[in-house]
Amino acid sequence: MIIERIKGLFAGQLLGKQVTVAGWVRTRRDAGSFSFIEVNDGSTLANLQVIAERTLTNYEDEIKRLTTGCSVVITGELKESPAKGQAVEVLADVVSVVGWADPESYPLQKKRHSFEYLREISHLRPRTNALGAVARVRSHLTHAVHRFFQQRGFFHIHTPVITTSDCEGAGEMFQVLTASEAARKGALPEQGKGFFGKPAGLTVSGQLQAEVYAQALGRVYTFGPTFRAENSNTSRHLAEFWMLEPEMAFCDLSCNMDLAETLLRFLLADVLAECAEDMALFDRFVAQGVIKRLQHIVDNDFIRITYTEAVDRLLSSGKSFDFPVSWGVDLQSEHERFLTEEVYGLPLIVTDYPAAIKPFYMRVGDDGTTVAAMDILVAGIGEIVGGSQREERYDVLLARMQHLGIDDVDYQWYLDLRRYGTVPHSGFGLGFERLVQLVTGMPNIREVIPFPRTPGYAPC
Ligand code: 4AD
Ligand code: MG
Repeated sequence: MIIERIKGLFAGQLLGKQVTVAGWVRTRRDAGSFSFIEVNDGSTLANLQVIAERTLTNYEDEIKRLTTGCSVVITGELKESPAKGQAVEVLADVVSVVGWADPESYPLQKKRHSFEYLREISHLRPRTNALGAVARVRSHLTHAVHRFFQQRGFFHIHTPVITTSDCEGAGEMFQVLTASEAARKGALPEQGKGFFGKPAGLTVSGQLQAEVYAQALGRVYTFGPTFRAENSNTSRHLAEFWMLEPEMAFCDLSCNMDLAETLLRFLLADVLAECAEDMALFDRFVAQGVIKRLQHIVDNDFIRITYTEAVDRLLSSGKSFDFPVSWGVDLQSEHERFLTEEVYGLPLIVTDYPAAIKPFYMRVGDDGTTVAAMDILVAGIGEIVGGSQREERYDVLLARMQHLGIDDVDYQWYLDLRRYGTVPHSGFGLGFERLVQLVTGMPNIREVIPFPRTPGYAPC
């Protein structure tokens, strides 16, 4: 039985009954005629205290040799615990040792290790309290995402990982080659050659394919890994990250913003209600006050301003930034932080960015210089959502692609969507790791994905 059940709802019903628990030893402490063993099975943050009496047959040979990290299966009676801070404990009848963990070489000890150190042992770090909590909260959020969309009539679409379209047009696609193609020195397959007949890569976004399905099924979402060969070694960039991308037909920019805001507030409220124990750990040891900050987001409307207003606000602040601000520049993280942390104190939806700094698919505004884009910025992280209303007018889209030098032959399928039954439609991408960072307060994105991939780093 998992410890989460034993300590949770069913504790009362199980008192006096035999239970069997399988997990890993956190600590062992000897006290005269018995030992206390703290066992954790990962189902919950809490350990289960086990009392192993000296009378057990393997007490001297095995139980007294148990150290942090050993795996055990324990059967015994669940009793009320006289100890402070726990309701129940197990009086063991049987303690079987399944696997030993040599204390001399086991890298995890009963002390706080730095996150940098834990990154070097990504195969063992989920056994720590903080990284275990991150994994449970991440799993919960994944489930909450599906619940949110399924309750609202969206269909989940599996978009491809390998693609020949560079959605964002930023030249950050990883190339996909067969081993023999790669062995041919220095040569990328030419157009018309190679495994797929043309250059292919790992997707940077599932959006373009989600648009196909939105214009058939109405409201869809895709949620999968995306890849970017961005050489940025920051606390919020990964080369492989998960993105949640809804796409809605018959939906304009304001409908898009409403959905993104409702989604974020739903997810935060859900995790606060359902993951209280793990959230309390983050609040205490990782990011003090994170629960209050999330509740503040849940309780208040986001602030909506245009890019032009954001630039004016930055210019009138009198603050000197490393990257000087002027209309037309992309907002840097220092600008995003200033706006969210020092000016507004709430998530900020910035709309109507200059067309020149946004991808080809965004709908061009009446002024001809801005696009119907929206980014959501949050304190401590910066951009967490990037989205837009898509250009649904065939001629305008074609002209923009030609202007940007995008080969429209490769995108006939995308243009077809505008040729046959085109509709206003919108969508956005939520960076899932940035969401997990916001929720847990983890300072570095490398801690919120099980196996981070960053420049120079992909150990297993
Ligand atoms: O703003 P981005 O590039 O938008 C798109 O890819 C759109 N095609 C999405 C859409 O409209 N369907 O990326 C969306 C979000 C960002 O706001 C950020 O949260 C996250 O993805 N993101 C990253 N997260 C971690 N590491 C990276 N290198 C990231 N790049 C973007
Ligand atoms: Mg963006």
